[in-house]
Amino acid sequence: WPYLLAALAGGYLLGSIPFGLLLTRLAGLSDLRQIGSKSIGATNVLRTGRKDLAVLTVLLDGGKGAAAAGLAWYLGGPDPMLAAALGAVLGHNFPIWLGFRGGKGVATSIAVLLAIAWQAGVALCATWLLVAAVTRYSSLAALIGFLLSPLYAWLLIGDLQRVEFAALLAVLVVIRHHANIRRLLRGEESKIGGAS
Ligand code: G3P
Repeated sequence: WPYLLAALAGGYLLGSIPFGLLLTRLAGLSDLRQIGSKSIGATNVLRTGRKDLAVLTVLLDGGKGAAAAGLAWYLGGPDPMLAAALGAVLGHNFPIWLGFRGGKGVATSIAVLLAIAWQAGVALCATWLLVAAVTRYSSLAALIGFLLSPLYAWLLIGDLQRVEFAALLAVLVVIRHHANIRRLLRGEESKIGGAS
């Protein structure tokens, strides 16, 4: 238990670095928490018009999740890896530095899934790209991708612990997208590349 808690806390600290916010602030852009969906993730960075910063945000927000999982695996093995990965997503979604109002955990969760169950992570990425290409909704792409990810983990890996982990990530993604889900149902969600 002490190792798992340490991994969870370490992952949380890494995950709580708000790269989207930091990058846009460094670039002198408006505060992400005041524009678009008010989220600190890459989709909202894209609404500033800076594609380069949005891509960098995906990479860094993903990177911190992968780093947390990788480091914990190296130091402690498979169980601490799961704890650190979960911690990183929680840190991104609920960062103590921002009054626990963070992002939606899509990039970070995709990266930890790639680290823990890469086959399911790849299938999720393909799903995200397909749904985003067809509908232009980033949130819908994430919701469908994550809701399918436990099934992908089951079909492609067949390991119950990883299926459960994917399901946990999916639950967190759905919880963080409640406002998006309402907007999608009302037909008011903003599209990628469209007006926000
Ligand atoms: O990556 C997060 C995405 O699914 C939704 O972001 O800013 O449109 O709420 P946003």
